[in-house]
Amino acid sequence: MKEFIQKLPKAELHLHIEGSLEPELMFKLAKRNNIQLKFKSVQEIKDAYEFDNLQSFLDIYYEGAGVLLKEQDFYDLTWEYLERCKEDNVKHTEIFFDPQTHTDRGISFDVAFNGIHQALKDGESKLGITSHIIMCFLRHLSEEEAFKTLDQAIKHKDKIIGVGLDSSEVGHPPSKFQRVFDKARELGFKTVAHAGEEGPPEYIWEALDLLKVERIDHGVRCLEDDKLVARLQKEEIPLTVCPYSNIKLRVFEKLEDHNLRKLLDKNLVATINADDPAYFGGYLGENFEGTQKALDLTKEELKTLAKNSFKASFISNELKQKYYKEIDSL
Ligand code: HPA
Ligand code: ZN
Repeated sequence: MKEFIQKLPKAELHLHIEGSLEPELMFKLAKRNNIQLKFKSVQEIKDAYEFDNLQSFLDIYYEGAGVLLKEQDFYDLTWEYLERCKEDNVKHTEIFFDPQTHTDRGISFDVAFNGIHQALKDGESKLGITSHIIMCFLRHLSEEEAFKTLDQAIKHKDKIIGVGLDSSEVGHPPSKFQRVFDKARELGFKTVAHAGEEGPPEYIWEALDLLKVERIDHGVRCLEDDKLVARLQKEEIPLTVCPYSNIKLRVFEKLEDHNLRKLLDKNLVATINADDPAYFGGYLGENFEGTQKALDLTKEELKTLAKNSFKASFISNELKQKYYKEIDSL
């Protein structure tokens, strides 16, 4: 199975680039930038990665990102992720980046963006991995701050395919950002949003109706609402599911309890993704392998998941057909 999973061409659609910051690189960048970490060793960092919920993770995740100062740091972060993509046969990736995590620390939008973008360009020319960037607004911050971030993105409009919404979900419903998303769509950005990870099905409805998203990030709580499931089925709205993340953040107690197979059985366009692999214990290949074992997924189901990843992506129809064929031939 491991070999079969490795060979499957895959797209990744839910990956926070800041969440791919490995403890080793965090340590290296802290040293390079003369930053004092509160951890004394890589092992101490790893030991701190025990989370009770989304917020307890986010606190550590924002702190970790504090070592990213220069364009080269963002480049190195992104490059290391792309090298892992190569190992896992990820052909295409649509990564999230959180500008406000950096601009709030005095790092300019452009420094973060240019480092990430340059690495992605090199990823395409040197590793053959195509990519898109999705800029996320931090939902615990204000609408006004989101508008400011959108303004900063305009000059990079041709290099950012869409906008998303992440960070602390409960208490920060999609409706808070309706006007920002209206403006973003007017400017030509696609829209996606995290919803139904810890938040209720109502947040998924809001993401669809108010933010007019083309995909739901996570969305696993949709099964609590039959009408919502019918809507997701009818409109073929993809769900970017992140199994390892859901266990680490205690959305499900154990991988065996995950509802991914139920989502597939309902013919929903579910995909597997890593979310924040450096914090949750696995990249895309490992998420596939672990979930396959825990849920005893068949090769046919794995093929469906791989096809869904391209179907749900923002690549051309022509390219999608090419990947479907490759997957069918395995
Ligand atoms: N949920 C919300 N915000 C995030 C996540 C997540 O899984 N990862 C990074 N920011
Ligand atoms: Zn996420």
